[in-house]
Amino acid sequence: MRQITEPAAMQTEAAAILRAGKKHGFVPTMGNLHAGHRTLIDQARADGEIVTVSIFVNPTQFNDGADFENYPRTLAADLQLCATAGVDYVFTPTAAEIYAPDRDILVIPDKLANPLCGLSRGRGHFIGVCTVVAKLFNLVRPDRVYFGQKDAQQALIIQRMISDLNFPVKMSLLPTVREADGLALSSRNRLLTKKERQIAPQLYAALQTGAQMLAAGESRPHAVIEKMMSRLSAPEIEIDYLNIVDLATLTDLEEITGDALIAAAIKLGDVRLIDNVIAGRANSALKRGAIE
Ligand code: PAJ
Repeated sequence: MRQITEPAAMQTEAAAILRAGKKHGFVPTMGNLHAGHRTLIDQARADGEIVTVSIFVNPTQFNDGADFENYPRTLAADLQLCATAGVDYVFTPTAAEIYAPDRDILVIPDKLANPLCGLSRGRGHFIGVCTVVAKLFNLVRPDRVYFGQKDAQQALIIQRMISDLNFPVKMSLLPTVREADGLALSSRNRLLTKKERQIAPQLYAALQTGAQMLAAGESRPHAVIEKMMSRLSAPEIEIDYLNIVDLATLTDLEEITGDALIAAAIKLGDVRLIDNVIAGRANSALKRGAIE
């Protein structure tokens, strides 16, 4: 395994991989790697010949300076996990190397970035995500990239960026990896107090309640949302958003007729947790995580 910090060195390496005609899988991350990231890496390893993981806590996608400062940074353990997983290249640039002081161009998503996390974190969040991911794609030049359903809105936006801006890249979207009690693995989980950690699984429990109602044929979003809210009534929980949206447009559904995305964000103390499930009566390809 090789660690590369210089963007120019990464690009040189990427060009050589491309010239050799090797299948190159890429997993972009912000580090503090856990079993969720590991499934993306394992899939890339299984699919391709070369696997690159980037570790970069991207300052431009944080709307809150304290959230950026507190984001867990665990490079030594991350490198260990990558080495064990058989990663070929770990790209660990610094912010100064990624962002020129006189930079002037951004990648701006439109409608898909308006609801859910776009609304609660502000316009800048997905602009920061799209801009850095576009840059990483150009530095790593993979033919396949791996994203997690945990951040479903992010994955949908990047998928649209790939098609709208003609990146020669395919995306694999993999299911959310959870703790035994249902809590989605997240780098932010370690910031929860013991009490908050005990309450946190209620988020997924509420999503499951919603999914069960859809599976049973409930078509009224407000009925599902009301029931889910009642499952998130612990005084420590502040609901940020809870929406049942169209899988393609992420707009609120007025009536549930097929598959839908149930997406939620809550705050427990200072920690913001997000999660989602794809639910409905049909057993769609998306539900099986087989999106291409
Ligand atoms: P990060 O939060 O580190 O996540 C990197 C990838 O891991 C994302 O595709 C995310 O959806 C996936 N992931 C996180 N938790 C997961 C879980 N429990 N199960 C399955 N996959 C999971 O997302 C980012 O970084 C950044 O926004 C990035 C795309 C790197 C741009 O800066």
